[in-house]
Amino acid sequence: MQIYKETLDIINRYSKKPEPFEPGEKTFWDDPHISRSMLEAHLSQNHDAASRKVETIDRTIDNLFKAGALKPGMRLLDLGCGPGLYAQRLAMAGMEVVGVDISEHSIGYARAAAEELNLPVEYHCVNFFDLEFQNEFDAVIQVYGELNTFPEALLVQLLAAVKKALKKDGVFIFDVSTRKLRTQNKIQNNWYYSDQGFWRPGRHLVLEMCFDYPDRDLWLNQYIIIDESGCKVYRNWFHDYSLEAVKELLSKAGFKLKTVWNDLTGSVYTGDGEWIAVIAQKNS
Ligand SMILES: C[S@@+](CC[C@H](N)C(=O)[O-])C[C@H]1O[C@@H](n2cnc3c(N)ncnc32)[C@H](O)[C@@H]1O
Repeated sequence: MQIYKETLDIINRYSKKPEPFEPGEKTFWDDPHISRSMLEAHLSQNHDAASRKVETIDRTIDNLFKAGALKPGMRLLDLGCGPGLYAQRLAMAGMEVVGVDISEHSIGYARAAAEELNLPVEYHCVNFFDLEFQNEFDAVIQVYGELNTFPEALLVQLLAAVKKALKKDGVFIFDVSTRKLRTQNKIQNNWYYSDQGFWRPGRHLVLEMCFDYPDRDLWLNQYIIIDESGCKVYRNWFHDYSLEAVKELLSKAGFKLKTVWNDLTGSVYTGDGEWIAVIAQKNS
């Protein structure tokens, strides 16, 4: 029957290892249903899938203040702020905070939370690649491995925008995952049926696959979603980092490495962690 032939053709096409960073659906952060599911995932305290748990976020902020990287009165840009879990805490600690995210649902939640707490956080629903800030911030933060997800050409663009947004001597604080995290947290080839779930509000089939590109420290988690309207493929690309690769990236982008930890809560750097957390300073 034609329907089975077409389905198998599609699955056959997506079973082949794609070229590095070959995109799937344009983006899923701003899909109405998926971004609602994502917001739930950000807020869940049962897992760390989209944001870290509140207890870790509090320890992260404590660490950044204790290390002197952040201070009350500083102006800070939170890139990919999601529902504002960091932004609202940083504002409570006396910083002037601007949060940027592409997800309308997350920004809507963040704005409502700031209003309820009477916090003057400025939130913008905007793509990182359309940023136009210039010499405005003492610090930019980008938390939870967002830098892992872009191909080099976009990274160059993003880091140039961060540099431009920072004042002289401003700092860029971020974390990136290492190969260790990827090989521990990988999805296996797997499938499941759901009446409603993360990907779709109605019944659908999920086919999960992963592809490894070990010589490039690159990894793909791929999700083929089949519902009554057809078949779509979503791709999460992760380019993992070593400290050497982080240093090279920063030096090319005009930053110097100031501090390195195993994670943003300030765990001592050991060289074999799942994350590398960095404070980098804009070269003058
Ligand atoms: C892994 S989440 C981390 C969220 C937040 N930093 C946290 O740790 O709670 C990445 C965030 O980046 C946002 N994002 C992804 N691509 C983006 C883009 N091109 N422009 C703006 N925001 C983007 C997503 O909507 C999401 O909220």
